[in-house]
Amino acid sequence: MGPPLLKAEEYDFKGLQKALKLRPEGIIDEIKKSGLKGRGGAGFPTGVKWELALAETGEKKYIICNADEGEPGTFKDRYLLEERPLKVLEGILIAARAIGANEGFIYIRGEYTEPIKIFKKTIEEAEKQGVLGDNIFGSDFNFKLTLVRGGGAYVCGDETSLINSIEGKRGISRIKPPYPIQAGLFDRPTVVNNVESLAAAAEIINQGADYYTGLGTKNSRGTKLICLSGDIEKPGVYEVEFGSTTLRDILYELGGGPLKDDSFKFIIPGGLSTAALTIEELDCQYSYEGIEAAGSSLGSGAIIAIGQKHQLLEILQRVGRFYMDETCGTCFPCREGNRHIDYIFKKHHNGKFYQEDVDILADIGKAISGAARCGLGQTSLSLARSLFYKFPEELIIGGGQR
Ligand code: NAI
Repeated sequence: MGPPLLKAEEYDFKGLQKALKLRPEGIIDEIKKSGLKGRGGAGFPTGVKWELALAETGEKKYIICNADEGEPGTFKDRYLLEERPLKVLEGILIAARAIGANEGFIYIRGEYTEPIKIFKKTIEEAEKQGVLGDNIFGSDFNFKLTLVRGGGAYVCGDETSLINSIEGKRGISRIKPPYPIQAGLFDRPTVVNNVESLAAAAEIINQGADYYTGLGTKNSRGTKLICLSGDIEKPGVYEVEFGSTTLRDILYELGGGPLKDDSFKFIIPGGLSTAALTIEELDCQYSYEGIEAAGSSLGSGAIIAIGQKHQLLEILQRVGRFYMDETCGTCFPCREGNRHIDYIFKKHHNGKFYQEDVDILADIGKAISGAARCGLGQTSLSLARSLFYKFPEELIIGGGQR
């Protein structure tokens, strides 16, 4: 399934040392050439983000590593923080150098006790060894990194809520634009990158963009860390080369298939906020474009397998409850929409719903996906909508026939 890119190694910060010899534009060119897309879920081109941030003027800029990994089914960043902390640190330093930031933050999910411990130690060691601080590796580059522990709110994984949280404010989302690269932390230009994006950027500078573009497909360069979870024999974090395999092979070969005496009922391919795929839809290529062509999205790389033992109702109710609990409540469509969705999911009749309730859900879905401020509300109905569409017999009274 392709060579592992994020492998362990004796750490010498080769990527950073190379970056320190390049001009910021040179670093950014390399990242743009690599085609790296943001690995948090949205897939925004990392090089473009850095380029826009570099073009911003002003004395102070920030880099933030978003390690508030809260998407249910996603635990790849945890793996990197625990097993490859130096590579993550290197990525942060390279990004900072590229955009002209001398200060940054890593915001780690509060529940990630072990990664927090490890990364604290990583920062202390790096400061002692001069990898953080003034004149890094004898250059004119100075950088200070602060670790912030999240308070347990899912919404703080949204970059604008996270920025509010670092500022000491309530973790609620901001309206975009302005994007953080224009007015982020303390209203200064700020790049917020996911942990995996930064680790990949370090590897790209180390091995060169050509190496990276030699892996994957035209629209999905390189490799991706995927998280297999749910009713599957071999759950865990795996690294796959884009385009080298199908979703079916990932589930059955890497993941070992369903649990004993079970079969898969459906798959969530990119975290809780992505549409379900049925067993018949698994022969798609594992790439951004492959999963999109199958009708869903790759998201954060969290592949959740659901076995036959689960009732769809149980899943809908748990998901509805999750989003209702986690909405920050600032914007009306998300606050009221998710409350109403949760209410409808409770109003079932032996596990099924009247068509008129399904129609109301569709209306709420339209309103909330277009009007909510951040990804939480915009995607909270994606999974449920796909389940109603793909399993009408099981979920709709009369099987969805009008
Ligand atoms: P987004 O598409 O609004 O933005 C993605 C990134 O690109 C942001 O950093 C944003 O500032 C930047 N950006 C977008 N357009 C820009 C422009 N015109 N100029 C400058 N910068 C621009 O997506 P968002 O709301 O940041 O993320 C949503 C995704 O997050 C979802 O698709 C979901 O898959 C994922 N997610 C991941 C979680 C995790 O634990 N990894 C948790 C929950 C959601």
